[in-house]
Amino acid sequence: MSGSNTEAFCSEVEQLLASLPKDGGLICQAAARQMLAEKLVRKQRNLQMPIGVWTVLALLTAGLLARAAYRSSSPTCLLSGTWLQEIARQPSNCSSMCAGLTSVPVETDISPERFLQLYAYTGRPLLVRNGTRGWRAHQHFSYEFIRDLHDRHPSAYGHGPNIKVIDPFNVELATLHDALHMSEERRRRPFYFGWKNLNRGVCLELMNYHERPYYLGPEIEHPAADWFYIGSASRAALLHIDFFYRPSWQAQIAGRKRWILQPPVECESVCSPLQVDIEPGDILNVDPNQWYHATYVLNETFSITLGSEFM
Ligand SMILES: [Fe+2]
Repeated sequence: MSGSNTEAFCSEVEQLLASLPKDGGLICQAAARQMLAEKLVRKQRNLQMPIGVWTVLALLTAGLLARAAYRSSSPTCLLSGTWLQEIARQPSNCSSMCAGLTSVPVETDISPERFLQLYAYTGRPLLVRNGTRGWRAHQHFSYEFIRDLHDRHPSAYGHGPNIKVIDPFNVELATLHDALHMSEERRRRPFYFGWKNLNRGVCLELMNYHERPYYLGPEIEHPAADWFYIGSASRAALLHIDFFYRPSWQAQIAGRKRWILQPPVECESVCSPLQVDIEPGDILNVDPNQWYHATYVLNETFSITLGSEFM
């Protein structure tokens, strides 16, 4: 019992005892104390009950909000974006990453040394025009080609929902297999989704159609894992930040795409949001773990983007 409760208890006991007949004796006094003690316990319970209820309600609300935030974020990617991950994210070096930038730098024939010095690990985005020169992917990649490629390696479909559905209008695309086997009618309606290939057979076949970007020097480790993003929905990926810890390159194989880059909150006072449109053949180098990013497919084109991370 707290100090204030004890004082109240004593005060009530004294008042009650004063009201008792002088000859009430010890039994009456004990009964009075018992009655007051029970009264105080009931009071405390009445105080505690609303707090317990509110605590449960607050936890339920927080849980529902967190779940809604998780579902609305890109699980890529999206993860993709939980509050805890955002809280744990390492702050960016704003001066090297984006201070003074008003547009995404563009290079047409960048050397590996220059890329390593200025862009690879600074967080500074870079658009390399015609970066996919010589890639056969441009002549071959299509929805059907990518579907058939995966059909030749059924284990690439994995188990469970290994697809990252980032088009909010297409929640029925639950698995990569579903997404790559849409009906003709369904494909005429907007869709957009992405996934990471971890299948060795698919990876080996893909090597016949694309190369390591020419400006990635030998000191840059380049894992053999490819990201695909395909679709026609004008609004592609919603604004989000990733938690892969590695920068990436994103090669535009087909279609045109607009990227919106938003600096993280710690850089907002010295950095500006950026926007860049990329064409087939362009490679956008961006650290999606430092830049919030959203994408739009332009001019109703069918967009195919192939990407990877490096470290
Ligand atoms: Fe992303």
